[in-house]
Amino acid sequence: MGMEEGVKDNTVSASASNLRHANQSRAVFPMRVLQVFLLFFVLVLGISVVSIHMIKYLKIQTLSPTTLISACDERTTLESFIKPPLSVWHSMNDSELLWRASMVPRIYNKYPFKRVPKIAFMFLTKAPLPFAPLWERFFKGHEGFYSIYVHALPNYTSDFSSSSVFYRRQIPSQPVAWGEMSMCEAERRLLANALLDFSNEWFVLLSEACIPLRGFEFIYNYVSRSRYSFMGSVDEDGPHGRGRYSYAMGPEVRLSQWRKGSQWFEINRLFAIEIVGDVIYYRKFKEFCRPPCYVDEHYFPTMLSIPYPNFLANRTLTWTDWSRAGAHPATFGKDDITERFLEKLPRAQSCFYNDQPSQVCYLFARKFAPSALEPLLKLAPKILGF
Ligand SMILES: *[C@@H]1O[C@H](CO)[C@@H](O)[C@H](O)[C@H]1NC(C)=O
Ligand SMILES: *[C@@H]1O[C@H](CO)[C@@H](O)[C@H](O)[C@H]1NC(C)=O
Ligand SMILES: *[C@@H]1O[C@H](CO)[C@@H](O)[C@H](O)[C@H]1NC(C)=O
Repeated sequence: MGMEEGVKDNTVSASASNLRHANQSRAVFPMRVLQVFLLFFVLVLGISVVSIHMIKYLKIQTLSPTTLISACDERTTLESFIKPPLSVWHSMNDSELLWRASMVPRIYNKYPFKRVPKIAFMFLTKAPLPFAPLWERFFKGHEGFYSIYVHALPNYTSDFSSSSVFYRRQIPSQPVAWGEMSMCEAERRLLANALLDFSNEWFVLLSEACIPLRGFEFIYNYVSRSRYSFMGSVDEDGPHGRGRYSYAMGPEVRLSQWRKGSQWFEINRLFAIEIVGDVIYYRKFKEFCRPPCYVDEHYFPTMLSIPYPNFLANRTLTWTDWSRAGAHPATFGKDDITERFLEKLPRAQSCFYNDQPSQVCYLFARKFAPSALEPLLKLAPKILGF
C-alpha cells in the first residue's frame, strides 16, 4: 500500500513535476523567440547604421525625400543663381551661350546682394601665355576684383597648376582666322562667358603678346572711374577706312556711320551685352566685310558708335607700334626693354580722360616677344609698379 501510495505519490509528484516542467517550457519558449527577435533587430539596426555612415563616407547620392527637398532649396536661393562656377568650362554651343549671356535684369544697377564690380581680363591667344609669370605678379593680392578668361586654339590644353590665376580659366573655343569674322566670334564668345558672372562690370580684351603698363589698383581705378568705354573708333578717309565700306551694308550702316578702330578694347557691361546680343549688324558684317575689309577693325566700333556715340572714348587703352610699315605691328624683344622705353609707353600719345587732358593714355601694350619676359620681370617693380 505504502508502496502503491508511494508509487502513486511518485506518479503524482512525477506528473506534478511534468506539469511544472511543461509550464516552464511554455514560459521559456517565448523568451527564446524574443531573444532571437532582439538579436535580429539589433543586427538590422547595426547594418542600417553602418550603411548610413557608408553612404555619407562614400558620398553616394540617393534620391531620398530629404535630398529632394534640399535640392529644391538650393535651386531657389539667389546665391545658387548668382554664384559663378569654379571652372569656366561648359557644354553650351555658341547659340546657347550667346542666348544665355544676352539676358539682362530689368532692375539695373541695383543689386539685392553685395556686389563688388570686377574687371574681366579676356585673353585671346593661340596657345601658351608667355607673360603668365608677369600677369601672376600683377594680379597677386587683388582676388575678388578680377576674373580671367582664356580663348586658345581648340586643340590646346594649358597645364597651369592649381595655384595659378589661369588655372581652369580656358573657355570652350573655335578656330580663329586673322582678320575674319571668326575673330569677332571668338571675342563675342569671351564676352559671353564673362557675362555669366554677374560681378563682371568691365571687359578688357588682351592677347598673349600684351603686358600691363601699371599696377592693378591703378588700372582698376582708371577703368572704373571712366565715364567712357575705351573702344577705338574713328571715321577715317582713304582705302583702309571708308574704302572698306560696302553700300550693301545699308540701310543699317551708312557710309557716314562707318568706323575703324583697334581690335583691343575695354568696355562696360552694357556694351558687352549689346555685342553678344547683336543679330542685325552681325549679319551685315559677316556677309559684306571680308578681307581686305578686316572685320575685327570695324564691326564693334561701328555697331556701338551708331546707337551710343557719346559713351565711347574713341580710343584704345592698348598701345601698339604701327610705325614700321606693313600689316602687322612691331614686336619688341629682350633688347628693346629698357627703363626709358617702358616709362614713355603710357603717355606715348596725348589724350583726354573724362574730358580732361591726361598724362596716362595707355594701360596695356603689345606686341612683346617671349624673350622680353625676363627684363620685364626685373623692371616691373620699379617702372610698372608691381
Ligand atoms: C546649338 O545646339 C542647338 C540644339 O542642338 C542647335 O539648334 C543649334 O543650331 C546649335 N548651334 C550651333 C552654333 O552649333
Ligand atoms: C592645333 O591646331 C592648329 C591649327 O588649327 C595647328 O597649327 C597646331 O599644330 C595644332 N597643335 C597641336 C598641338 O595639335
Ligand atoms: C566719339 O566719337 C563720336 C562720333 O562717332 C562723338 O559723337 C563722341 O563725342 C566722341 N567721344 C568723345 C569722348 O569725344
